[in-house]
Amino acid sequence: MSAPKRIYVFDTTLRDGEQTPGVSLTPEEKVVIARKLDELGVDIIEAGFPASSEGEFTAAKKLSSLGLRAKVAALARMNQHDIDAALNAGVNRVHTFIATSDIHLKYKLNKSRDEVLGIIRDNINYLRSKKVEIEFSAEDSTRSEKEYLLKAFRTAYDEGANVLDIADTVGIANPNLIRDLVTSLKQATDGAFVSVHLHNDLGLATANTLAAIEAGADQFHGTINGIGERAGNASIEEIAVALSVFYKDRFQTGINLGKIYEVSRLVEELTGVTISKNKPIVGENAFGHESGIHTHGIIRNPATYEPISPEMVGRKRWLMAGKHAGSHGVQAQLKEMGIEVTKEQLEEILKEVKKLGDMGKQVTDEDLYAIAIAVTGMAPQRLVDLIGIVTVTGTNVLPTASIKIKFKDRILESASTGIGPVDASLKAIQRSLEGVLKVYLREYGIKAITGGSDALAHVMVRVEDEEGRSASATATGPDIVMASVNAMVDGINKLLLKRGA
Ligand code: KIV
Ligand code: ZN
Repeated sequence: MSAPKRIYVFDTTLRDGEQTPGVSLTPEEKVVIARKLDELGVDIIEAGFPASSEGEFTAAKKLSSLGLRAKVAALARMNQHDIDAALNAGVNRVHTFIATSDIHLKYKLNKSRDEVLGIIRDNINYLRSKKVEIEFSAEDSTRSEKEYLLKAFRTAYDEGANVLDIADTVGIANPNLIRDLVTSLKQATDGAFVSVHLHNDLGLATANTLAAIEAGADQFHGTINGIGERAGNASIEEIAVALSVFYKDRFQTGINLGKIYEVSRLVEELTGVTISKNKPIVGENAFGHESGIHTHGIIRNPATYEPISPEMVGRKRWLMAGKHAGSHGVQAQLKEMGIEVTKEQLEEILKEVKKLGDMGKQVTDEDLYAIAIAVTGMAPQRLVDLIGIVTVTGTNVLPTASIKIKFKDRILESASTGIGPVDASLKAIQRSLEGVLKVYLREYGIKAITGGSDALAHVMVRVEDEEGRSASATATGPDIVMASVNAMVDGINKLLLKRGA
C-alpha cells in the first residue's frame, strides 16, 4: 500500500477571513494568530493584502520575519504596485489573482479576454524574475467559460506560476463542477500543482473541497471557523477532520487535530466573529447532549451518538439536563460536579429538572447544582473566593480594577484595565488565575429587576475553559460590578469542580 498523499493547507484566515464584514486585525493580533496557526500545522499562512494599507503591509512584513515553519504568502492584484508591496514585505509566496469570468471582465475590469491573458503573462513574468513562489488564482473560476479558464491557467503555468488556484468566488459550485475543473486543469497542464479556494454561500465548501481533493487537488484554501466574505470560506477544521475520518489512508494533512479547538477559540476572540452553537467541530453544541435517550447511550458508549470523539479535536463532551433528561444523564452530570446522590435523591432532582424544563426553561448546570444542593442539603464547595476588589472609573483614565482572590490556600492578585469597570474587573479575575486556569467569558447578560438607579442587577455569566467545559452562574445585587464579579467567581468555582480540581 502506498503512503497517503500529502494535502497542503493554505490558511487565509488573516486575509479572506479578515474580509468578514466588521473584522479588522492589528499586525500584533495577526502575529498572535499566525503563531497558533503555525503550531496547528497549516502549510501556508496568507498574511493579508499589503498594498491595501500600511497596517496590512506591516503585518505581512512581521509575519515574514517570525521564522515560522509555515510559509508566508500575501495577496496582490495583477499590477506592479500590488506585487511590489507583497515582495517588499518579504513573503515566501505571492498570491496574485485576476478575474476570468465574462461578468467580471465586462462589469469590473472592463477588459477583453485577450487583454486579461496579456496581463497574466506580463505579471507572472515579472514575478518569475523576482525568485519568489507564485500562486495564481483565477477569480470567479466557477462562472468562467471553461475553455477560456483553462487557457488563462495554462498561460500562467507556461510563464512560471507554481500553484494554480481555482476560485469559487461566489460559492456557486457543486462537487461535480469542482471535480470536473480539477481534472481538466490537471490534464491541461500535465499535472501542475492545483489548489482550490471555495466559498460557502450554498453550504457546500467542505463537500466541494473534498471533491477537489478526490479529483487530484494538491492544496486547499480555508479559514479557521470558516470565517470570510459573506457566508465565509471553507472551514479548515471541518476539512481536516473529514479527511482524517474518510480518507486516512489516501490523504494526509499536517494539521494537529488536537489543537483545533484552541485555535478556533483564539480566532473567535480576536476577530469577534462568534461561532454559531451548532457549527460542526467547534460550535458549543457540537459535543453536547441533552435528551435522556442520547445521554444514556453516551454514558454507556460515546460512539452511540458521537461521530468522532471530542478529544480528537481538543474538546470535552458535556451533558445538559432538561425536560428530555433521564436519570443516567443527570447522575453523570452530578458526578462531574462532585455530587453523589442516593436513588431517592436522584428521582427528586430529576422531577425538579423536568418541572423547570416543562416551564420552557433551559436548565443550566447552575440550576442543577442549586437543585442538588437543596435536595441533598450539602454545603456548596468553593475553591475560589473573592477577598477584595477596587475599581476606578471616570474620564481621561482607563477604567481599572485591582483584585485579590483566594485559590485553595494561595492568594492571587492582579489588575486590569477595560472598557468599563465591569470589563476591567472580570479581566482582572481572569488574569489573576492565568497560572491556574485559562478562563474565557462566553456569555454575559444583565437585567435590572426593579426600577430606579438603585435597581437590583441580575447578572448571568457563562465561562469556559480551553477544552470547552463550560459553567454558568448568576448573581443579584444593587452594585453591577459586584454582581458581575460574584457571578464570575461562582462560575469559575463550578468550572473547577467540572475539571475535578
Ligand atoms: O474568493 C476569491 O476569489 C478570492 C481570490 C482573491 C482568490 O478570495
Ligand atoms: Zn475568497
